[in-house]
Amino acid sequence: MYYYNKSRQNRSFVRILKNKELAMVAFSFSSLAGRLRRSEIRELLKLTRLPETISFGGGLPDPAIFPYDAVREASIHAIEERGNLALQYCPTEGEPFLKEELKAFMARQGEAVSTENMLVVSSSQQGLDLLSKVFIDPGDPVIVERPTYIGTIQAFRAFDADFQGVDMDNDGIMLERLEKLVIGLVDAGRKPKFIYLIPDFQNPSGITLSRERRKRLLEIAREYDLFVVEDSPYSELRFRGEKIPSLYSLDTDGRVLLMKTFSKIFCPGFRIGWVVGPSAVIEKMTVAKQMTDLCTSAYVSILAAYLLSDGHIDRQIEISKMLYMRKCEVMLKALERFMPRVDGVSWSRPDGGMFLWLRLPDYMDTAEMIHDAVELNVAFVVGCGFFHDGSGKNTMRLNYSYPTEERIIEGVGRIARLVKKRLRLAIV
Ligand SMILES: Cc1ncc(COP(=O)(O)O)c(C=O)c1O
Repeated sequence: MYYYNKSRQNRSFVRILKNKELAMVAFSFSSLAGRLRRSEIRELLKLTRLPETISFGGGLPDPAIFPYDAVREASIHAIEERGNLALQYCPTEGEPFLKEELKAFMARQGEAVSTENMLVVSSSQQGLDLLSKVFIDPGDPVIVERPTYIGTIQAFRAFDADFQGVDMDNDGIMLERLEKLVIGLVDAGRKPKFIYLIPDFQNPSGITLSRERRKRLLEIAREYDLFVVEDSPYSELRFRGEKIPSLYSLDTDGRVLLMKTFSKIFCPGFRIGWVVGPSAVIEKMTVAKQMTDLCTSAYVSILAAYLLSDGHIDRQIEISKMLYMRKCEVMLKALERFMPRVDGVSWSRPDGGMFLWLRLPDYMDTAEMIHDAVELNVAFVVGCGFFHDGSGKNTMRLNYSYPTEERIIEGVGRIARLVKKRLRLAIV
C-alpha cells in the first residue's frame, strides 16, 4: 500500500508495508488442496536453470534447434492475415484452422482422426487434469505403468485416485500381470476407470510397447470393457527401428483416447496439445476445459497452424530425430566408458525419445545422491518420483536431448564418480 507523505519537503511516497504475519487468517482449503504437494523433484529441477549445472533433469528439447525465424515469420502472418481471430477468444474445442492442420499432420503420421473428435488443450498436462476431472472420484482404481510420468501421478493424485501399478519389461507393460490385476479388481466390484500408458519411448524408462503387446492389450481391454488412455508425446521422435502403430489406430472399438503435444516435437513454450478419442469423452473434457481456461490461446494456436501448414513442424521433427540420435549415442558411449561394471548397474538403450533409464544396485538410493550431484553441478531425476508407491529408489532418469554433447560426456563422468563413491561406501 502507498501513502502520500506530506511532511517531507521533497514530497516522496513512502511505502507502508503491512505486517502480514500479524494477520493470522485461518484459510479453509478444500480437501483437494490438502492433497496438493510441491514436487521435491520439480523444486530440484529449478537448480538446473543455473548455467553451471549440467542438467539431465528436465524433458526439454534442445533450444539450439528452436526455429526462431520461422516463429517470427508466423507471428507476422498471424497478425497481418488473421489478427482479428488471433487476438480474440476461440472456441473451447480449439481454433478451427489449427484443428484442420492437426488432422492433416496426423494423417502424414499415419493416424486418421476427425476434427469433431478432437479437443485442443493447453498442452498434455492440461489434458491429464481434464481427464482426471471427468473420470476420477476419490478412491477410484486407475491402472498405470510402474514407473510412469511424474506429472501424471501428480494429476491423478490430486483427485485421490487409487493407483494400481503394473511392472514393465523391455517390451512394455507385462500383460499377464495386467490381466490378473484387472480380474482381481473386476471380481471385487472395482472396475478400473482406465488404463493409462505411454507406449512410445516411455517417460521415464524409454521403453516402447511392442506391436504384439499393443494388440493383446486391446484384446484385454475389449474383454473387460476397459477405457485406454494413450499419452504419446514422443512417438514421432523415433530415430531407430520401425514405427509401431498407436493403440489409437489399432483400436476398432472407440475405446482409446490419444493425447498429443507440441512440447517435445516442437516448443514446450507454445503450450499446445490435442486429444482425440470417443466423442462422449471429448464432450465432457471440453466442458471441463471451458470452466478451466475457456480456451487455449488463439494467438499461439494460429502460429502453430501456420507452422504446420508450411511444413516447419515436420522439418523440426526430422532435425530433432537426427540430433537426439547422436546425443543418445554420446550418452551411451559415455556410460560405457565411465560407469563401473558391476552387478546391478545397467541402463536402457532407447530407439527414440529423450530419456535413458539407469539402474543401480538395489541397496543404492539415488535420492541420497542428488545433493552430492548438485554440489558437483550435475542434475538427474531420482527414479522414485516416477513410482506411485515410492519404490524404485535405485533408479534415475537421464535426459540427453537438452545438454550439449560435451556436457553429456562431462556430466555422465560426474555421475559415474558419484556411483563409484557409493559402491565404495557399500563395500566399507
Ligand atoms: C508422458 C508425458 N505426458 C505429458 C507431459 C506433459 O507435457 P506438456 O504439458 O508439456 O504437453 C509430459 C512431459 O514431460 C510427458 O512426458
